[in-house]
Amino acid sequence: MRGGSDRLQAAGQESAAGRMRTYRYPKSSKNSEESGEKTMSRVYNFSAGPAVLPEEVLKEAAEEMLDYKGTGMSVMEMSHRSKAFETIINEAEADLRELMNIPDNYKVLFLQGGAHLQFSMVPMNLMKNRVADYIITGQWAKKAWKEAQKYGKANAIASSEDKVFSYIPDCSDLPVSEDADYVYICENNTIYGTKFKTLPNTKGKTLVADVSSCFLSEPVDVTKYGLIYGGVQKNIGPAGVVIVIIREDLITEDVLPGTPTMCQYKTHADAKSLYNTPPCYGIYICGKVFKWLKAKGGLEAMKEINEKKAKILYDFLDQSSLFKGTVVKEDRSLMNVPFVTGDADLDALFVKEAAAAGFVNLKGHRTVGGMRASIYNAMPIEGVEKLVEFMKAFEEAHQA
Ligand SMILES: Cc1ncc(COP(=O)(O)O)c(C=O)c1O
Repeated sequence: MRGGSDRLQAAGQESAAGRMRTYRYPKSSKNSEESGEKTMSRVYNFSAGPAVLPEEVLKEAAEEMLDYKGTGMSVMEMSHRSKAFETIINEAEADLRELMNIPDNYKVLFLQGGAHLQFSMVPMNLMKNRVADYIITGQWAKKAWKEAQKYGKANAIASSEDKVFSYIPDCSDLPVSEDADYVYICENNTIYGTKFKTLPNTKGKTLVADVSSCFLSEPVDVTKYGLIYGGVQKNIGPAGVVIVIIREDLITEDVLPGTPTMCQYKTHADAKSLYNTPPCYGIYICGKVFKWLKAKGGLEAMKEINEKKAKILYDFLDQSSLFKGTVVKEDRSLMNVPFVTGDADLDALFVKEAAAAGFVNLKGHRTVGGMRASIYNAMPIEGVEKLVEFMKAFEEAHQA
């Protein structure tokens, strides 16, 4: 992991604007037919997903692009049945297991179809009684709930829609259905910026969680869940891979009639995620991110960094006379931070000026407006510090 990045020796320099970072790559590897130097600029990318990835990972992948470890080909070009890819996927799984401390009675599946396909696969595979309870904390939970209604009785047992999903409902004593096959949550609400700080009391029912936007941002106790899943394009890798961590007793042949073979967890568990051609390159990048996380000290260390990073932004919002956060303090996400000025035109101007200064993708979700800074694992702390500096300057310039 380290070797490749060392060889690239990218030298970060602040440009005159003070925010756009310019990198100068030296004439490089034996595989490069280019002569001379390449220059490129990288911005601070606050996108909610696909999102920023660790630069070390991107540089190493670039180094290995034409010749992966002496195979003479890119990972994009190799058979998913090859020895080289077998090692990539096995190592990725082993590293993820280590990072999340995943018990042996859980399977790790690398699938496709995004988080959206899980909205269907979860009920198709788990709704044995055709009853499930959903906690509606945002659009993604709502979409999953709507999808589940196609397959059985999907109950909304709690919701925060009354206050535009700006909080997490009290889930300590919900009317969980006696015959519910599972209780479903979206653990971190990407659009609204809320996060479950305490998991719901499911009264003994299986907990299913969509963790797309908080995956690997802090330690989790996997044993509290029956199934955890997430699209990787926010905190782990490129779009196209969804990871499912599922307790073995939930993987059965007893699925709803008509469930396609590709939508059965058993198909993928039995084939070790190689039933069909998997998204090989995406899995390879995920594997590199797992190694990057391990080198950073794992999920405890990430939690500390993420808390520090989020605090910089939230502390600023809490004292700002122009900007304000939109979420109840105790439910604030460490990953997605929505904020507004209260004036839609000023919000639009902020987004525009921020982009010009190298802070991009700060526009809030199209359904809620305002701004949102997604500060996933790979966003460096200096990205948030500089964003706050920029916000301060904007505030001074636009004070009433
Ligand atoms: C929490 C959450 N769940 C589900 C989705 C949908 O993901 P996909 O586009 O991979 O289906 C998103 C996408 O942004 C999300 O943030």
